[in-house]
Amino acid sequence: MKTQIKELPYNLAQWKQGYRSQKQEYDYQITEIEGQIPHDLTGTLFRNGPGLLDINNESVRHPFDGDGMICRITFQDGRAYFLNRFVQTESYLAEQIAGKFLYRGVFGTKKTGGWLSNAFDVTLKNIANTQVVYWGGKLLALWEAAEPHRLDPKTLDTLGIEYLNNTLKPGDAFAAHPLFDPKGRMVNFGLKAGKFDRTGLLTEITVYELDLDGEVVEQHSHLISGFAFIHDFAITPNYCIFFQNPVSFNPVPFLLGLKGAAECVKFEPEKPTKIILIPRNPRSGEGIQIFETKSGFVFHHANAFEHDDKISIDSIAYDTFPEPEPDTDFRDLDFNSLTPGQLWRFELDLKTQQVNSNLVEPRCCEFPTINPANVGNPYRYVYMGAAQTLDGNAPLQSIIKLDRETGSQQLWTAAPTGYVNEPVFVPRPGGTQEDDGWLMAMIYDGSRDRSAVVILDAADLTKGAVATLWLTHYIPYGLHGSWTDNVFIN
Ligand code: CO
Repeated sequence: MKTQIKELPYNLAQWKQGYRSQKQEYDYQITEIEGQIPHDLTGTLFRNGPGLLDINNESVRHPFDGDGMICRITFQDGRAYFLNRFVQTESYLAEQIAGKFLYRGVFGTKKTGGWLSNAFDVTLKNIANTQVVYWGGKLLALWEAAEPHRLDPKTLDTLGIEYLNNTLKPGDAFAAHPLFDPKGRMVNFGLKAGKFDRTGLLTEITVYELDLDGEVVEQHSHLISGFAFIHDFAITPNYCIFFQNPVSFNPVPFLLGLKGAAECVKFEPEKPTKIILIPRNPRSGEGIQIFETKSGFVFHHANAFEHDDKISIDSIAYDTFPEPEPDTDFRDLDFNSLTPGQLWRFELDLKTQQVNSNLVEPRCCEFPTINPANVGNPYRYVYMGAAQTLDGNAPLQSIIKLDRETGSQQLWTAAPTGYVNEPVFVPRPGGTQEDDGWLMAMIYDGSRDRSAVVILDAADLTKGAVATLWLTHYIPYGLHGSWTDNVFIN
């Protein structure tokens, strides 16, 4: 029997190039444009992600440990302007001056000096590298284990740590996945571990709701049992929904300086995933509800909504937690050794307390997004970064649109030389249909060694990009981004 060698739609060496530091800060009008920027596209796309992946050629252990760099692309009158700046966190500035790592990273980056200098140093670096949002007149760079940093949206100058009018205390966590309730609320959460009862470790979840002026109008805390590694959540009009993945935390190698905190997280496949429902109105008298479903790991949710005493949640689930391999370079990733993220629907029955879970899309997917008008409500279309191949795990090279009503899908691809970041949905002004808008994504093209901003028509991905805006350089793979109709130009 002959073994057929399947040709990969990607080039691993090219893919790896997208994980290099971009130390240069740029400010220019984008002039190399294929297609045309829609004239009614007015506003600003903000993106965050690790921009610094080495200091003096000493590499971070994991890209999630890289310092946050914000990209801002402003659209006005059919023109686009690019600006990128590092978030000037205290630790970024100190390490730039020192020319070496002074802090430990959650994902295993050690400070220079070996085991002894890392042991018992639990000071973490607030790297502000995961999301950036404009809300209540403030631009906030977010990282889930600490406070936000406030930036000037025009210059991207770092203004300092943001405590939300003394709502947050120094060291408080404010997650990197705020959700925007279309009724005019930004909803977010923070996690804190460290309390114990007879059952062991407890994790405190604090829910925050901010009004349109950025004022914190709801704040309530809840203790749940066990260790919780919760990156994202979902909302409906009445509930916040958290997935407590079945993982444990062994702090000993972390305390000894041998491993980063995230490297001490162990997946427990024999345990179920807990789905925690917290009422958004703390005065409702309703308590927390906890459901159980199959073991698995979820980073990101697409959306959730209530219907007929049920709650549906669409999430990207993995069979296991992709544990960072100790002592290997993250760029030497064997995609085939990891299970792909796939879109699942979890349906909670509030009457019977049962959970139904169904695989929606088997293709390897990440970074789901929807029209912001439908957050927390029934919806039809979900957009995701996706692998080019139908099965197995592979880099994200495409963007797919799934129609949850008909089951049909559309795909736009950057393969074989392009690699995509998270798509962001931008509603068309005056749009009436759910898919009336654009998808914007940063791509990295390995053959040109440059990045581009791609604008797709969300109603029809198959007609190709409306516009491709070539940057004069590359931007390393990022994490999350957001759109605002406000125009910010320096
Ligand atoms: Co995320």
